Amino acid sequence: MSLLKIVRFPSPFLRQPTQEVKVIDKQVRTLVEDMMETMCDVNGAGLAAIQVGSLHRIFIIEALAAGGERTESPKVFINPVLEDLSPETDVRDEGCLSFPGVFISVKRSLRLKVSALDLDGKPFSIDAEDFFARAIQHEHDHLINKLLYDHAGPIKRQMIKRKLDKMTDEEAMDLLRQHPES
Ligand code: NI
Repeated sequence: MSLLKIVRFPSPFLRQPTQEVKVIDKQVRTLVEDMMETMCDVNGAGLAAIQVGSLHRIFIIEALAAGGERTESPKVFINPVLEDLSPETDVRDEGCLSFPGVFISVKRSLRLKVSALDLDGKPFSIDAEDFFARAIQHEHDHLINKLLYDHAGPIKRQMIKRKLDKMTDEEAMDLLRQHPES
């Protein structure tokens, strides 16, 4: 396994169209293992493949955030589809590993259903709520090239740009390690 470099805003790569995973082969399994290691290294709650330089439609959510035990592996979603997003919403601050040190209030549905493939290519569906549902919506946004930046107002956008334009890799890692659960 190896740590992958996390792509930061404003890299144009985060706006590249993502692609359906056709075959879950060794390359895909290695990518997912590396994503897990990379997310774990910075205590992230979720990570999408596009954030580590792959256009596959894949994201992972940390086990505790996904309603499991801390010791379990992160939950893997391949070619995920969201349905039944509840009209009930709430607004909370969100972070993102591609936006070190940035937190933005985002309105999200409280409940949804997600269908995806697991690492064995087996389809599954989950009804998610609260933080899990929020994390799924955040990661799914990455697959449709929607970013935390897009949820921010004009003043906050300027602040984000200013902050991230000149951020070094070292500063980014320090910020990510200071703020777990981005
Ligand atoms: Ni994110």
